[in-house]
Amino acid sequence: MFGKRSSFGNGGSARPAAAPAAGGAQPVRAPAQPMAAAASKPAPPPAPSEARRPDEYYVTKSMIFGALIEAIDLSQLSRLDPESAREEIRDIVNEIISIKNVVMSISEQEDVLDDICNDVLGFGPLEPLLARDDIADIMVNGASRTFIEVGGKIQLTNIRFRDNAQLMNICQRIVSQVGRRVDEASPICDARLMDGSRVNVIAPPLAIDGPTLTIRKFRKDKLTLDQLVKFGAISPEGGEILKIIGRVRCNVVISGGTGSGKTTLLNCLTNYIDDDERIITCEDAAELQLQQAHVVRLETRPPSLEGTGAISMRDLVKNCLRMRPERIIVGEVRGPEAFDLLQAMNTGHDGSMGTLHANSPREALSRIESMITMGGFSLPARTIREMMVSSIDVIVQAARLRDGSRRITHITEVLGLEGDVITTQDLFVFDIVGEDAQGKLIGRHRSTGIGRPRFWDRARYYNEEQRLAAALDASEVDVRAPA
Ligand SMILES: Nc1ncnc2c1ncn2[C@@H]1O[C@H](COP(=O)(O)OP(=O)(O)OP(=O)(O)O)[C@@H](O)[C@H]1O
Ligand SMILES: [Mg+2]
Repeated sequence: MFGKRSSFGNGGSARPAAAPAAGGAQPVRAPAQPMAAAASKPAPPPAPSEARRPDEYYVTKSMIFGALIEAIDLSQLSRLDPESAREEIRDIVNEIISIKNVVMSISEQEDVLDDICNDVLGFGPLEPLLARDDIADIMVNGASRTFIEVGGKIQLTNIRFRDNAQLMNICQRIVSQVGRRVDEASPICDARLMDGSRVNVIAPPLAIDGPTLTIRKFRKDKLTLDQLVKFGAISPEGGEILKIIGRVRCNVVISGGTGSGKTTLLNCLTNYIDDDERIITCEDAAELQLQQAHVVRLETRPPSLEGTGAISMRDLVKNCLRMRPERIIVGEVRGPEAFDLLQAMNTGHDGSMGTLHANSPREALSRIESMITMGGFSLPARTIREMMVSSIDVIVQAARLRDGSRRITHITEVLGLEGDVITTQDLFVFDIVGEDAQGKLIGRHRSTGIGRPRFWDRARYYNEEQRLAAALDASEVDVRAPA
């Protein structure tokens, strides 16, 4: 249609290593020895243990890609809808294959075509991974190593980029969608894909072995608390307690390690906020999906190239207070905004929530204290602790266990101060009791026998005390009994 097709032809000199001795255009037939069985089309979703493609595949693909770029007018191609663009590329690639006598099987041809379309029209080798729904994270460590997390386990894929320049190009294409740049001058960048996936890029010279891209895939069907119960992340009774905690406006800190499910849990808890409350969310990259009608979503902003114009999480939380919020939800607390969130929790915005990185409820408390101390507030430790005690009601701990499963391991209440020490009580815990033959951990959630949590009066105020008592009673187990 618009290709500069005359620029290649029989005289093309770049002949791939796999080309047969006989010259001249021949119909493409399955070769006696295809490049490799492993190069056959990865049916989506591809098997996790696929072998890597042989080098010849990439040599051939780059030869075809080079000839295609010569032959096609990219600016015109970009004006076509994806289907027609794909058809156009298909025609030209078939022509190149035939003219240059490339020997490959039909399935290899389809593979090359897919890869090339992905390179030209989308995010290249990342496309098949982005299309999969079962992947939680995509981690690209330079051009030749891409890992994914599926079912809580990290595995190496056969995805490979032509070189670091192609990978850098794709990173650039991703971040330019949100009006940002990544290059040697500003080698760190956060962005979001069109579908909401969270992206981080760190490029050389900071990333020594090539551009490093991390994508937290956005789940179209957001997990709900009932689904978490179904997955065994929490027992039905524990789920019930969390629903009550969300509803009765407890101030909640969700603590957990990286990728343990904190944001998911926060999103689930917000489902139980009443529809008539004004909610303001503050996030670094908007991930939460609140269902209520009255939600204001705020996002931080990194500094410009000149180093100006940054809006920090603290700026957002402080500004929130002037927006008549009823609940403030902070996606992730990692710095001095901890102080402002606690103040908000303490001053009539109860039911506020946030997540932070910590491995246990106690560690979460000391993390908050150190975030405030390091934020330059010259407050005595005791004052900070008093503030924490009077603002935080509940800490929910999430964890990704060694078998890859994600569980809620503690629902812990903050009780008070004894001397200089914050006292807490676990309301609900997860005990690991064994391991099955497949290495899956066996465990049980149980209440610790506390009949009246500290938020009992709150539950009564919202008419939820019967439900709370029933959930606590039902989850008491004899700890000596087998699970
Ligand atoms: N209970 C669960 N069972 C199965 N998958 C889960 C569960 N909770 C979360 N996930 C999945 O795990 C991935 C990580 O979850 P999430 O983004 O909530 O983690 P996070 O702790 O907020 O991570 P980060 O520290 O990177 O912000 C997501 O793909 C999410 O869908
Ligand atoms: Mg998160």
